[in-house]
Amino acid sequence: MTRLLLAIESTCDETAAAVITRDGQILGQSIATQEDLHQRFSGVVPEIAARAHLERMIPVVDSAIKQSGVQPKDLEAIAVATHPGLPGSLIVGLATAKGLALAWQKPIVGINHVQAHIYACGLGRSTSIYPCIGFVVSGGHTSLYKCETAMDWEYLGGTIDDAAGECFDKVAVMLGLPFPGGPELSKLAKTGDPKSIAFPRPLLDDKSRLEFSFSGLKTAVRYHLAGTGKQDWNEIDLAPQDKANVAASFEQAVVDCLVGKCMQAVRRTGLQRVCVGGGVAANSVFRSQLQSACEAMGCEVIFAPRELCTDNAAMGALAWERIDRGDFDDLTLDVQPGLIRPSKLK
Ligand code: KG4
Ligand code: ZN
Repeated sequence: MTRLLLAIESTCDETAAAVITRDGQILGQSIATQEDLHQRFSGVVPEIAARAHLERMIPVVDSAIKQSGVQPKDLEAIAVATHPGLPGSLIVGLATAKGLALAWQKPIVGINHVQAHIYACGLGRSTSIYPCIGFVVSGGHTSLYKCETAMDWEYLGGTIDDAAGECFDKVAVMLGLPFPGGPELSKLAKTGDPKSIAFPRPLLDDKSRLEFSFSGLKTAVRYHLAGTGKQDWNEIDLAPQDKANVAASFEQAVVDCLVGKCMQAVRRTGLQRVCVGGGVAANSVFRSQLQSACEAMGCEVIFAPRELCTDNAAMGALAWERIDRGDFDDLTLDVQPGLIRPSKLK
């Protein structure tokens, strides 16, 4: 009999549910984005996100289940991302999962959203992606992990301030692009010259630490646009080619940091495979340059399928790793908003 799992995701601003088989087949999937709600603030507003999850969660779960053709009684468990994320958003997903678990008499399994982004790289593949360097590059995270297995991992390093995706989004605002700005900025960058402006590559040359810092790069772009000492870049009217050059030079600076630090992690751990997930993993320049850098070191690189790079519930298939061990949570399960750094945690 096919083993079935319902997974729920609501860590940030996507409300998502999926029905997934033990071998990673997605039988039903539904995602409601909130971009329209956060657009005018140029960033995710936590209170609005939580309330929107509340409105959309049940219709989203309903749609994923209907699409799958599965009956709730046939589900083996209910998985939910409980950490890390925005507290109000996480609570809506968890409360929904608890309600369904109670109503349908199913066990509940809390999962780590960041590890699920890495796990997404293995969906649809017949062989295991572990051991690997897990690299999560998203709107909220830029973190490197040494992953022995899906459940046995160690934090190697990450950003000490902004996440890469967040930096894309903020620079996109400076360029007058709509939120979320990453994909728009990347589109604009295609017509620009990545060598035209020498933006900084923070921490890249410091080989003693596998850390990233993007807030200074963001400020460097801001000063480039407005001029040192000026406060309002809205008055700056750049020619389209200049804008494209800023976008391309900025994108190249971020990509150099991401690729450089990832290769330092490969050298440090000796692992021969890199698995990349998170929204920024959809960026074409990043994909091709990381691919080339890995090839040059004889290392395999696996990106999450493009449709599973940004937040989704299918990556909740990670829960199978716990279900197989009979490792379930109970109804006292709570959310953990902060990033978990030590090794060997679930
Ligand atoms: O994984 P995700 O949904 O968010 C978190 O879990 O935090 O990723 C969303 C982020 C946004 O910051 C978005 O601008 C960025 O990923 N992003 C991109 C691209 N597509 C999405 N950034 C750069 N280039 C892209 N093509
Ligand atoms: Zn995410």
